[in-house]
Amino acid sequence: MTFAARITGTGSAFPPNRVTNVDLANELAKLNVETSDQWIRERTGIVERRYADLSKDEIPNASLAAAAAEQALEMAGKTAEDIDQIIVGTCSPDTLLPSTACRLQHKIGARRAWAMDINAACSGFVYGVVTATQFIMTGQSRTVLVVGSEVLHPYLDWQDRGSCILFGDGSGAAVVERAPEDSPQRILSWNLSSDGQYGDLLRIPPFYSEENPFSDELSCKNSKMLMNGREIFKVAVRTLTQFALQVLDKNGFSIEDIDWFVPHQANQRILEAVAQRLKLPAEKVLINVDRYGNTSAATIPTILDEAVRDGRIQKGQLLLLDAFGAGFTYGAMLMRW
Ligand code: ACO
Repeated sequence: MTFAARITGTGSAFPPNRVTNVDLANELAKLNVETSDQWIRERTGIVERRYADLSKDEIPNASLAAAAAEQALEMAGKTAEDIDQIIVGTCSPDTLLPSTACRLQHKIGARRAWAMDINAACSGFVYGVVTATQFIMTGQSRTVLVVGSEVLHPYLDWQDRGSCILFGDGSGAAVVERAPEDSPQRILSWNLSSDGQYGDLLRIPPFYSEENPFSDELSCKNSKMLMNGREIFKVAVRTLTQFALQVLDKNGFSIEDIDWFVPHQANQRILEAVAQRLKLPAEKVLINVDRYGNTSAATIPTILDEAVRDGRIQKGQLLLLDAFGAGFTYGAMLMRW
């Protein structure tokens, strides 16, 4: 017997510390790096982002994930004990070992669950929901907690004004549950892909000394994000459009059938270009990049949660999730809410 999977609860959490473009420009000026509120708004649509307070919490990523997870569980009417499986999409774990998923499991007391991280960068949440869906469809899991969670700001290179202005910290969660095979509310279809040829366009090198692996000195300076923004912009617009159309076509849907487009929030100009190519009206595109910047794997679940809670997303509507991330990784998904 096979089953369907559907999202029954969502949640999100951001650190309280707001960093406006003006705040950031002032901090960067101290490092002789020049930027402005106007440049950031015009080129990215970002107005502010949040940074976790690293001095107050040693595991801020897991803490944000736990706060988002608790909201999602509450909405789904589930407790931590009900969870069979935890998947955290993250590329900025608090520690390389243990995983953020195991820390989250411990924090919320999900004692029955097995837990793992997925690193698909900004596609992490979509990859996580697809993975959860597989376990649910085969009957292996009944209730899966999927979280996209990032504390990326410690990895930013403050000398690189093209990248350091883009990213923020945050966490979004979803409870994915078993549903009857013929349930109208369900995850309908997906299209995942990766293309390692673009790996060097966005990377965070390792922190160890490459010259001398036996050295005690950890090379924190080298462990900063390196990004080719202009090239990423082009690939992002092309692939977000292509994957959206492919997943629609696979299901015999057209763009007019979509109630909400839920794209990865990297840059407002990317979203506008994709919406234009898809011929999607701007009112159907969910956006939170203005308030939180690019929170990588957390962008899709946080904007999803916001639109569920404020009533924009209604039962029976068709949602198209569309992600791309470092790797490169791509993932589009259709679901009936
Ligand atoms: N403030 C002021 N000037 C800046 C800044 C800044 N923060 N950053 C760059 N500039 C300058 C550049 O130095 C350049 O100056 P020059 O013409 O004198 O050389 C000029 O602005 C234009 O630079 P571009 O790089 O061409 O600017 P662009 O319009 O492409 O915007 C940006 C740059 C915002 C990075 C854009 O390319 C972008 O968003 N790319 C996608 C990045 C992205 O999505 N990354 C993450 C994807 S994957 C994931 O989400 C994990």
